[in-house]
Amino acid sequence: MKTMMKNLMLFVFVSSVALLGCKSSTPTKTIENLKAGIKGETTASAKYAAFAQKAMEEGYDTIAKLFEAVSKAEAIHADNHRKALEDLGQKMEDFTPTFDVKSTAENLQAAIDGETYETETMYVQFLEDANTEKVEQAIKSFTWAFDTEKKHLDFYTKALEALKLNKENALPSSYAVCPVCGNTYDNASVDQNCAFCQAPKEKFIVIN
Ligand SMILES: [Fe+2]
Ligand SMILES: [Fe+2]
Repeated sequence: MKTMMKNLMLFVFVSSVALLGCKSSTPTKTIENLKAGIKGETTASAKYAAFAQKAMEEGYDTIAKLFEAVSKAEAIHADNHRKALEDLGQKMEDFTPTFDVKSTAENLQAAIDGETYETETMYVQFLEDANTEKVEQAIKSFTWAFDTEKKHLDFYTKALEALKLNKENALPSSYAVCPVCGNTYDNASVDQNCAFCQAPKEKFIVIN
């Protein structure tokens, strides 16, 4: 009886250790978040490329450049999330981005709504989970996206204001995107090195 009890306790102990070990080695929330992030950023990139096209058709050249620059930034975020996911030995399932293209004013509002959700809800939660699960690669990738989306929100908000006042010619005429982290600048005021990842400005992608 005593031996049986001992064996049972040993079994419970070993199982608990195995379970705990399993929990810390598989960051399940971060894996789900990286997949959701890839889907969100890939969709945003395709959506903003379509919005750029629409803005060109409507004669809003400066707003088209903004959409094009941000589309590039979101593609870089998706790439970085994908690398972080693959570092965890995981793969992304195939999916098809879906979105609506309306007027440029409506598209800007949709962009503002999307960036607001990302900066106020999505990346806040993703970063909390990645910090809890201690996934360095994901923390870095989510932080770069989170910090960039705040700038996108600001650019889009100013663009919609300008459009409403018929002053879109006062918007930046050129943008620069960091190819490493997606950081997005008015090309008239770039830093010598990217403020988020330190990449030199000579490497920036310029949208003229
Ligand atoms: Fe963004
Ligand atoms: Fe950067």
